[in-house]
Amino acid sequence: MSSPIDPFDILKKYADPESKVYKILVEHSTSVKNLALKIAQKNPHLIIDVELLEQAALLHDIGIVKTYAPDIGCFGVKPYICHGYLGREILESEGLQKVAPFCERHTGTGISRLEIIQQNLPLPHREMSPDTIEEKILCYADKFFSKTGKNLYKPKKLKKIYKNLLKYGEGKVRKFDEFIGMFGLYYVYEE
Ligand SMILES: [Fe+2]
Repeated sequence: MSSPIDPFDILKKYADPESKVYKILVEHSTSVKNLALKIAQKNPHLIIDVELLEQAALLHDIGIVKTYAPDIGCFGVKPYICHGYLGREILESEGLQKVAPFCERHTGTGISRLEIIQQNLPLPHREMSPDTIEEKILCYADKFFSKTGKNLYKPKKLKKIYKNLLKYGEGKVRKFDEFIGMFGLYYVYEE
């Protein structure tokens, strides 16, 4: 058994707790975590490692600190799309080998190796699609929340999620529909 980690200690190590990006990371990741745990709770037939899911939900976006996205207080040098694999590198360096892959497998509905190559994306050439049940739940829950505005706390309406995903092709929308089929939807907008 590894010793328990406090995800907030890790977040604080990479983002100044007084900074804008830290507040965004905590708010967005907490919204995603709460929904991810609700999904786990509403799907008792699935065997889910809830502790892993919770840690991953709180840490999945840590890589944004190394990207350039001034709107959300990020002043690194890499393009925003790199936040997934950069987060994986951070968490691996922290010894969080099980949590690390979630970082690069939650963007959109996942990015395939083929897409990375064909679209010449600035990413390592490997599969970055959610694979385990916990990775799929995190990816799904993440689509309901943004990092700015009211959707930091309030789940996005489906119409908005579809509109965002459609920019990357119909396949992404179909993948999202698969998640709805796997995990359900009706409870997402409950108080
Ligand atoms: Fe996220």
